[in-house]
Amino acid sequence: VTRDVTERKGTHEASQRLSAIVSSSDDAIISKDLNGMMTSWNSAAEKIFGFSAEEMIGKPITKIIPAELHDDETKILQTIAGGERIEHFETVRLTKRGEQIEVSLTVFPVKDDSGRIVGAAKIARDITQRKKSERALHTGERLASVGRLAATVAHEINNPLEALTNLIYLARHAAVQDDVRGYLSDAEEELERVSHLTKQTLGFYRETKGSRAIRVGSMVTSLISVFASRMRNKGIEVYPEIKEDPEICAVPGELRQLIANLLSNSIDAVDGAGRIRIRVSTGTAWSVDRREGVRLTVGDNGGGIPDELRSQLFHPFFTTKKEIGTGLGLWVCKSIVEKHHGAIRVKSSTKPGKSWTVFSVFLPFDDQRIIVDEVFKQAL
Ligand SMILES: Nc1ncnc2c1ncn2[C@@H]1O[C@H](COP(=O)(O)OP(=O)(O)OP(=O)(O)O)[C@@H](O)[C@H]1O
Ligand SMILES: [Mg+2]
Repeated sequence: VTRDVTERKGTHEASQRLSAIVSSSDDAIISKDLNGMMTSWNSAAEKIFGFSAEEMIGKPITKIIPAELHDDETKILQTIAGGERIEHFETVRLTKRGEQIEVSLTVFPVKDDSGRIVGAAKIARDITQRKKSERALHTGERLASVGRLAATVAHEINNPLEALTNLIYLARHAAVQDDVRGYLSDAEEELERVSHLTKQTLGFYRETKGSRAIRVGSMVTSLISVFASRMRNKGIEVYPEIKEDPEICAVPGELRQLIANLLSNSIDAVDGAGRIRIRVSTGTAWSVDRREGVRLTVGDNGGGIPDELRSQLFHPFFTTKKEIGTGLGLWVCKSIVEKHHGAIRVKSSTKPGKSWTVFSVFLPFDDQRIIVDEVFKQAL
């Protein structure tokens, strides 16, 4: 009898220790029977999934599994019933608010005294944040390697290109035959396109380091004066509207290029009684997270963009300006916006006499750019 009591006391202490570990763990530790009904639910599980123990115990675990993954649960239960465990299985689960979170699961069978498998215990770790950083790093690395290659090529091409431009110019002026002059003038135009392309590329990748606090509004004002003569020549009226101009953290050269590309497209798009409106204000993101940031819109009353071209707009080399366009402008804009974790949108109408186009950009105040920037710094 004495031994019996000691043994029971030991078991009691061990189980108390165990339950203290379970309740203070940062990982969700939960258990279920072989039908997938919850039998225990610790406080980390409450924190991660938002459901309290009362809401979960006795209920099916499928409550936290997205509908399209319900099959996985059947497989998990089969594996467990077969006595095997599942280690670090990365998948998606649902919280009470309906948000998807990424988790790493370890599941193992629970046996009764006679060794019979009666259920499963599960440790779930919330890895949403880790996955987000991994993706940001991955995007950063890809951008950096593309950037490095493009910048090298552009740089190598730039010097001989300048020499060629000068030589052709001289040859054209020295040429006596008309047809030769014609060929040389065509060659000059083609060369101009190549120069434009390398400059776009270099312009984008030269200044990849060094985010600073900048104001989009004052950048808009200074760019309008850069483009002033081009607009005056076409008889374009420009209406800047800087409602608010808060600071954001961004790479100045890239932001200048973003605004310049949009403005330049609008200038190309309008003719006769052309109007361009540029607005800067604070705003929230279009995505569900409603982040705060700066909203920039560039609108014009040009010919608009036909629906069938809409899907190709941001693709590299898509252009409708045969001689003068490289089709890199909007692609570069999109890359810059994405690097700053923002978003870009376009709305347009081609209604005759009432056509217009508006590009809107959202740039968040705070983001994870620091990570991406680090990668850039190391890569370049
Ligand atoms: N404001 C606008 N109004 C009408 N069409 C536009 C506008 N902005 C862009 N587009 C269309 O999108 C195409 C792609 O624009 P993008 O800036 O990428 O290249 P591009 O202007 O043709 O050449 P570049 O590389 O020199 O900028 C344009 O050729 C044009 O057809
Ligand atoms: Mg353009």
